[in-house]
Amino acid sequence: MSATPALEINALEKVYASGLKALDGVSFSVEQGEFFALLGPNGAGKSTLINSLAGLVKPTSGRAKVCGHDVQQDWRQARRALGVVPQELVFDPFFTVREVLALQAGYFGLKASRPWQDEVLEELGLSDKADTRMRGLSGGMKRRVLIAQALMHKPPVVVLDEPTAGVDVELRQLLWRFAKRLHADGHTIVLTTHYLEEAESLCDRVAILDKGQLQTLQSTEDLLASHPWREIEVQLGAVPAELSASLHSDTVALSDGWYRWRLHKEHDSVADLLEQLRNSGAQLLDIRTREPNLEDVFLQLVGGGNE
Ligand SMILES: Nc1ncnc2c1ncn2[C@@H]1O[C@H](COP(=O)(O)OP(=O)(O)OP(=O)(O)O)[C@@H](O)[C@H]1O
Ligand SMILES: [Mg+2]
Repeated sequence: MSATPALEINALEKVYASGLKALDGVSFSVEQGEFFALLGPNGAGKSTLINSLAGLVKPTSGRAKVCGHDVQQDWRQARRALGVVPQELVFDPFFTVREVLALQAGYFGLKASRPWQDEVLEELGLSDKADTRMRGLSGGMKRRVLIAQALMHKPPVVVLDEPTAGVDVELRQLLWRFAKRLHADGHTIVLTTHYLEEAESLCDRVAILDKGQLQTLQSTEDLLASHPWREIEVQLGAVPAELSASLHSDTVALSDGWYRWRLHKEHDSVADLLEQLRNSGAQLLDIRTREPNLEDVFLQLVGGGNE
């Protein structure tokens, strides 16, 4: 546990010229080798935080380090350790894909490593676009190039700011496979996404930002376990008329005779509910439960936000 953290963020604050406080004293660390989710509703400050790491936003106060290198005082080293795939598509329309990649490598004083370029192009399904100019690529293809670009200097820490926003299902799956491969190869991955089921399946730990503040930071497992509710659904054959009146007030009628209840993990008992149903003369045909997912937890924590 003595290894230098991949990211150390300490009391980071950003007030934009407009006076808007996008980051309001955020502190947390990401360990080497983690697959880490940075979540939050629109406008929470996720991109501001990521852009501060990349030197694209100058923090108002506080500090951030990448692999022990301060992003302001020691920015060269910090940037070498970091590959950021930005949320916005920024590119020079006249360069070809390969030129973009070669320039990026050159920026870090590296010789454009042809085998590495080819490998990344291949992995991202870009091989046949290598000599196409950026302006001739579709949005999804441009996003792939941004990802390839961020990896040219083989940074130990890779930050993906909504890499799957507006991309089709196939590319989304390709990107997740690729992110998993990078993680398996030892890279630390920090991911922002609004696809919470993907964050849930990929990430070891989850941080939730809201209004520039860290709301929670926990392992995905603990976060899910901390949610107080679970759902139970029961399919009823014959439904006596007085049933709805005698049941919990929060009964939700679904189709095909299914009903849903939200039960508090500690205060409500499944046995009580079933007994109540039987006593009312209902015929129980089938039963299923649904454990909370990251979306339930997220909505509970950020109060519905604008997700
Ligand atoms: N250059 C800027 N000047 C002024 N305000 C900005 C600037 N960039 C972002 N903001 C504001 O800062 C807040 C945080 O924005 P940010 O882009 O960091 O959010 P986000 O969490 O990445 O949201 P999203 O999920 O929509 O990408 C927002 O209120 C946004 O309008
Ligand atoms: Mg953003």
